[in-house]
Amino acid sequence: MCGIFGTIGDDAAMRTLEGLRRLEYRGYDSAGLAALFDTSDKEARVETERAVGYVSDLVSKVNGRFKNSVIAIGHTRWATHGGVTEVNAHPHSSADGLMSVVHNGIIENTSELLSEINESGYSMTSETDTELIVHLLHEALGEQRTPEAALEAFQTVIGRLEGAWAIAVIVSGMDGILVAKNGAPLVIGRCENCISISSDPLPLYGSCSEVAYLDDGDIAYVSQQKVDVISESADLTFAPHQGDYSPEDPGIFAHMMIKEIHDQPTAFQNAIAGRVSADGTNAMLSGFELDSRELRKLDRINLVACGTAFFAAKLGVRYIRRLSDVPVEAYLSSEFPVESVGGKNTLTIAVTQSGETKDTLDALTRAKVAGGHVSSICNVIDSTIARFAGNGAYLYAGPEYSVASTKAFTNMSAVLMLLALTLSEPDNVERARVIRGLREMPQRMSNYLHSEIDFEPIVDLLVDSKTALFIGRGPNSHIASEAALKMMEIAYLPCIAYPGGELKHGPIALIEEGTPVIAIAPDDSHYPKMEANIRECASRGANVILVTNRETSVEDYCARVIRTPPTDPFLSPFMSIMPLHLLAYHLAVRLGRNVDRPRNLAKSVTVV
Ligand code: AGP
Repeated sequence: MCGIFGTIGDDAAMRTLEGLRRLEYRGYDSAGLAALFDTSDKEARVETERAVGYVSDLVSKVNGRFKNSVIAIGHTRWATHGGVTEVNAHPHSSADGLMSVVHNGIIENTSELLSEINESGYSMTSETDTELIVHLLHEALGEQRTPEAALEAFQTVIGRLEGAWAIAVIVSGMDGILVAKNGAPLVIGRCENCISISSDPLPLYGSCSEVAYLDDGDIAYVSQQKVDVISESADLTFAPHQGDYSPEDPGIFAHMMIKEIHDQPTAFQNAIAGRVSADGTNAMLSGFELDSRELRKLDRINLVACGTAFFAAKLGVRYIRRLSDVPVEAYLSSEFPVESVGGKNTLTIAVTQSGETKDTLDALTRAKVAGGHVSSICNVIDSTIARFAGNGAYLYAGPEYSVASTKAFTNMSAVLMLLALTLSEPDNVERARVIRGLREMPQRMSNYLHSEIDFEPIVDLLVDSKTALFIGRGPNSHIASEAALKMMEIAYLPCIAYPGGELKHGPIALIEEGTPVIAIAPDDSHYPKMEANIRECASRGANVILVTNRETSVEDYCARVIRTPPTDPFLSPFMSIMPLHLLAYHLAVRLGRNVDRPRNLAKSVTVV
């Protein structure tokens, strides 16, 4: 997690603050800035400012003070080492104030390095692992100020570190930024009169005409004149960086999350555009290095993902199993048993919105090392995972800023459905019906989102609860899991999700008078058993909130019924999830939560 940004050029600090604002989704517990105003002065201390809270809190503290700076680096933090305090916020500076560092990642051999720097007479002011780096560099560099000497000293320091990092350092008397990358992303962007470094390419849209991605192990001195790189891989190559930055702007909506829920019809349309034929007979997900015939001959497909993406992957497994014979399973990236399921003639697909999730990148790397094919299904164009896989399919959901993933979940499910159709034999009897259903989906979603649904009476049932239980069967058991995760994540209500059949094996013990049970029971083959579950819960005092698209004989057992539009049973998850994302949103708003920036989370999870 954490975002780092830096600029060399006019008004470097102001540009850096803007870069940090655009990276804030990577971590938002504190932020900081370091800048130099005259790079010829070896004695000039690096000016710094740090603030607990959002980048806007840092901007208020900076209050125009850094105007006319010529080099700046900044950081937006998601704490790993040390609490959320101003002292632990980056940048960290040497005791003489002549150099400052920002860092994204984790240094694993901290205790060893700590005793070493203590012996050399340095002492730590923060609880972070990052501060070590600046003391080590201070010792290695001494008074030297040439790019060659700086690179050499920096290389020595980096050689001592174990773990993962993207690091940027500025040193008084030097006109460039020292950077290093290993296991955390770092990109360099160039324009006519400035050069920037950034955790991802997003903030560089609109300001940098070309970008170059550093590889793991790279160390560089970045100045306006040139970029000196020490690299074990190929030379650094700049490529055109085209596209627009679309700002985090909720428009007429109160939050990004509700805007993104309402983006879904358009996002879904973009996911299927050019991938299903107008006559409804054909669907194809191109972009994979294997064609459909080769895909069908695989021994197995593994989907690796985390959080919401994992629930979309579980749904995808259902679709693939139903439409094809290829063995498939979804795994939590951090638990991926590559030894048993990787290897030759397997394909491992990372399913990820950000394309930066470290657990997922690690799982994909392990699959590749084991000799299998790898691909990605990803939203962020040119993200680390998309580039690592080098093939796969994009979600085309548009930027998703709210930490709570909504439209990306829907598009992941849609793209996995397209993958299932790609794997299916052309004469599969279900194909035409499913394709037609997909084509109708954006309009159905739009109609639903435009209907007036009053969530407040349903929120009343949840607002004072200690917990909520979500149940569903078949594909909708994954919708129960996703809905529970979302409510927990943004409303901070402990939520438990179970397939309906498991209720009697334990979770039913939680039910007492008034316990909210959210039951997802569309018109499908699981419906009769869901009815039985609803009766069981209601007879123990639960307030059942039923999500269904059919007339039901258990209505009298339910405290509230949320009606969704009728759909093909196979596609009902796309409809069931919408009111549940909305319900989580409305509950979080009622509870006064920070909907788009829930506590302790970040949009991009780049630590393991
Ligand atoms: C979703 O609401 C969560 N914020 C989280 O579970 C997320 O889906 C997970 O961290 C995976 O992220 P990714 O899709 O970017 O890989």
